Amino acid sequence: MPAAVVVIGSFNVDHVWTVDRLPRPGETLAGRYRSGPGGKGFNQAVAARRAGAGTRFACALGRDPGAELALSLAADEGIEMLALRVDEATGTAGIQVDATGRNRIVIGAGANARLDAAHIGRVADRFEGARVVLAQLETPVDAVMAGFAVARDRGMATILNPAPADAGVPDALWALTDFATPNETEFSMQLKRCCGLEVDADTLAAEPDASLHALCRRLLPAGTVIVTLGAAGVFASRPDAALPDGDPAWLRVAAPRVEAIDTTGAGDAFNGALAAALSLAPGRALEAQLRDAVRFASLSTEKAGAALAMPLRSELRARFATDEA
Ligand code: RIB
Ligand code: NA
Repeated sequence: MPAAVVVIGSFNVDHVWTVDRLPRPGETLAGRYRSGPGGKGFNQAVAARRAGAGTRFACALGRDPGAELALSLAADEGIEMLALRVDEATGTAGIQVDATGRNRIVIGAGANARLDAAHIGRVADRFEGARVVLAQLETPVDAVMAGFAVARDRGMATILNPAPADAGVPDALWALTDFATPNETEFSMQLKRCCGLEVDADTLAAEPDASLHALCRRLLPAGTVIVTLGAAGVFASRPDAALPDGDPAWLRVAAPRVEAIDTTGAGDAFNGALAAALSLAPGRALEAQLRDAVRFASLSTEKAGAALAMPLRSELRARFATDEA
């Protein structure tokens, strides 16, 4: 299948404990354990693929059972791997999920930290035919920057999911970004970093549209900013000048009501589905693209796990009377 989306990013083996409530410092709690595939990059690649886009995934893996898991799952999903193999343990994440589906995550980057611009250069010809390049920041920023430079060169759109929240984004990377997709925490942290603004992540969803729009314009003046707001859906803000007369520069898309049991990877679900939507039907209204991606992400919270919790198109169709392509 020709590539529509290239994802650059991390693969982790997720070690997940489900607990009634998250432990306090110094406290020991009993939980139920399982493990499964994750990493923001891989989750997004699986989401893009399951949302219907031909997907290639550039990543770094060790030479261990975690790497074998990544390769065999990618083959099952029909994702083409552009993997760098290194002598380092494949990435890991320790995740605690409470009874309300909220999580807390610690990652061990391992091999993910070894992804570099040279590898992206070697696989750049495999970007051919793609319309969208999507990345997060669990892999080094140089690799992402190299991938986005290739994308810009060839007229592909770039989506930067600035996660995790503590990741620094150099100006040169913002300059290569067409769409930024922070969640509330990431938005607030990046605003502080770029512009010295203090914005409370917990009350963002309740901000008036005009003031959210103004904040988005500060973060990425020339691009589209999509702030994901969990159960409150998403807020999107576009550069005013880019819009036809009368089109609002911002819009909100609500999330459908779902029975969330595990929100791990919900942001990844949104990003992968958005990349798929933008690549498969680039001319479609942004609102419709966002609605599909929000539905996709919402459904992912009804299943435990990260990559394997991504819904199938058939599940989406069964659940929503959708006009998606
Ligand atoms: O976004 C969720 C992901 O974050 C998990 O799968 C975990 O691996 C961490 O990367
Ligand atoms: Na999930």
